[in-house]
Amino acid sequence: MYKIAVIAGDGTGPEVTTEAVKVLKTAAEKFGFKYESTEFDFGGERYMRTGETLPDSAVEELRGFDSILLGAIGHPDVAPGILEKGILLKARFDLDQYINLRPVRLYPGVETPLKNKGPDEIDYVVVRENTGDQYTGAGGFTLKGTPNEVAVQTAVYNRFQVDRCLRYAFEYAGKHGKKARGKGEHNTLALVGKTNVLTYIYDLWERAFHEMGENEYPDISRDYYHVDATCMWMVKSPEWFDVLVTGNMFGDIITDLGAITQGGMGLAAGGNINPEGVSMFEPIGGSAPKYTGQGVINPLAAVCAAAMMLETLGEVKAAEAIEDAVKFVTANKLKSMSAGKMGFSTSEVGDLVAQHVADQ
Ligand code: IPM
Ligand code: MN
Repeated sequence: MYKIAVIAGDGTGPEVTTEAVKVLKTAAEKFGFKYESTEFDFGGERYMRTGETLPDSAVEELRGFDSILLGAIGHPDVAPGILEKGILLKARFDLDQYINLRPVRLYPGVETPLKNKGPDEIDYVVVRENTGDQYTGAGGFTLKGTPNEVAVQTAVYNRFQVDRCLRYAFEYAGKHGKKARGKGEHNTLALVGKTNVLTYIYDLWERAFHEMGENEYPDISRDYYHVDATCMWMVKSPEWFDVLVTGNMFGDIITDLGAITQGGMGLAAGGNINPEGVSMFEPIGGSAPKYTGQGVINPLAAVCAAAMMLETLGEVKAAEAIEDAVKFVTANKLKSMSAGKMGFSTSEVGDLVAQHVADQ
């Protein structure tokens, strides 16, 4: 019996998590596992009512779950940063979800802005470190509000953080790289950095990367790309990539670029993973206030997040069945992946996926 915490959150979060849970329920019946879901109302509304974001007591409670499914965090009436830091980043940090796993995968039938690229070319995974870098909050102001104001926000990494992220990425590349999936001759892990300018941080990453690769993962090919060049190749030659690993800030930026190449925010899912603890899965698209309550938002990213959750829990068959069902729906049913243009409502899209999972 899996204990799943559902934080539907703000905006369209509740609409998309409802569909994800619908598909989860069908998968549980079909594949014979049991789960129990518990809803938490953390988000903008609760913050405006009570001043609470994600209290420490809630973090303690969340430790008792097997996994967390998150909808979206962000509210138009709350100043930027409060909910993001107070809920999303707090959960990632306090639960030590040190990996942010973000597949960049184009599904059949989905339009990409990249010319002459299809599902065969756009098929790689970004392993984003999820606890360090500029996200630690190290820094501050001096002389704030004066003409001589100084602001510092420092990128921070220690060897332990870098090593555990690299180890996850090497293991992942060994199990899910292109060779492992029958799509290439090698499993390849590429480090994305900026060794020509960030000569401390990415020097540490690069040394740790080659040391670990050489000593412990000699069968995995190693590549290195500067982050700026990575952006270029993500557009021009995405087929070069297999598994990419990078720091928190670069990972944040390149995965938005990746998301748009895979058909947009309606489809991009990610996992905040603590391999030894409680992980949290989310559609990476945000709360989309403009579409809230209309039943027009695309729930497939949330459904894919639920599939990633099941895979991490060890329900691999169920995860694959959901992913297959999503592919079936994108290839054969939806007119477009964009909100309001799918040709179906949010809940009808959930029904289509659930039906296909049940029918397999
Ligand atoms: C993401 C988001 C978050 C991040 C924000 C909302 C704090 O952009 O999940 O990529 O920067 O990590
Ligand atoms: Mn982001």
